[in-house]
Amino acid sequence: MVEAHAAKGHQHTSSNLSAVQPPADPLAGMEPRVLSLGGTVGGPLPTFTISTQLQGRSILTDTDLTPDEIAMVIDTAMKLKAQRKAGKPQAYLTGKTIAMLFQHPSTRTRVSFEAGMAQLGGQALFLGMNDLQLKRGETIADTGQVLSRYVDAIVARVALHTDIMELQEASSVPVINGLTDRAHPMQALCDLMTLQEQFGTLKGVTLAYLGDGNNMVQSLLLAGAAMGVNLRVATPPQYAPNPEIVQQAEWLAATSGGGASVLVTDDPLLAASGADAVYTDVHVSMGQLDGAKRAVALAPYKVTDAVMAEAKQEAVFMHCLPMHRDEEVAASVADGPQSIIFDQAENRLHIHKAVLLHLLCSAPQGL
Ligand code: CP
Ligand code: NVA
Repeated sequence: MVEAHAAKGHQHTSSNLSAVQPPADPLAGMEPRVLSLGGTVGGPLPTFTISTQLQGRSILTDTDLTPDEIAMVIDTAMKLKAQRKAGKPQAYLTGKTIAMLFQHPSTRTRVSFEAGMAQLGGQALFLGMNDLQLKRGETIADTGQVLSRYVDAIVARVALHTDIMELQEASSVPVINGLTDRAHPMQALCDLMTLQEQFGTLKGVTLAYLGDGNNMVQSLLLAGAAMGVNLRVATPPQYAPNPEIVQQAEWLAATSGGGASVLVTDDPLLAASGADAVYTDVHVSMGQLDGAKRAVALAPYKVTDAVMAEAKQEAVFMHCLPMHRDEEVAASVADGPQSIIFDQAENRLHIHKAVLLHLLCSAPQGL
């Protein structure tokens, strides 16, 4: 374990000032005056103790973290969340830089990684694929090698999972999956954190997923089963999740120690029956070309008020977002009292900061 930063004499940057919620200015409206910035204004950086276990590691898929490591990241995210709510500075990664390589659009992943890195005192560089020499045929491997010479980690959102594997093989810095066609591990971590906040535990919580057997449910299957969550997945048979991933999830559930189980069915009401949480995702993911066919096959898997009525009375509704109201979810559910979609979205920020801190933390000089 290292202490991520010492307390005294820390030089504040503009980004850790931005993490502080300033008190109401008692001199507002008065004559202009002189302010002292920098130095120890705002107090010292609070000590944050963190395990170095994940230092330098990549996270491409959910099983790249053990259940203990998933619990550790969630715990760190919760501490960072509380610290931020208390308005404390968090510049534990001053001087660190990440590259963010994005082939598809993004609101949550991009902005929460960029804002999170700024709050941690570091810098994130957004690199749209079309702005890089990748567009002119430079290889992914060469790009990984070059970026590794400049930055401390790479977040990548690429269409093909094989591309992120190639990037990671060529890179000497950690690579973090910001979504591929196979997995969305950052979102799954944030969803587990949100479930833990909601129910106080993960073991024995039942999560029903209705819709396409896509990247999102594949990550929920792996990360959820590893943490003892019961998974109930309803998809049309032709859009079922990858059978190898389902098998892996069954094994993880069996070894999770909480008697968790995995059910994959084509019956949406069976999946939702008695669930603590009902989750869905878009019926047509980025890059999928058979949209019309999918929309028809997936229509019966829409989360409606009737579906929510099958779940427990206190069940919550979840969605990774972005959503299409009245396609995969009724607007009355998405915007209703059971919906916790924006808590999920918020937790992307705290989870990403926790992941960055665990992967990039280093002892302050002299320790
Ligand atoms: N849930 C999610 O990954 O959202 P973005 O596509 O906006 O990043
Ligand atoms: N399954 C969706 C997730 C978006 C966050 C997609 O891949 O487009």
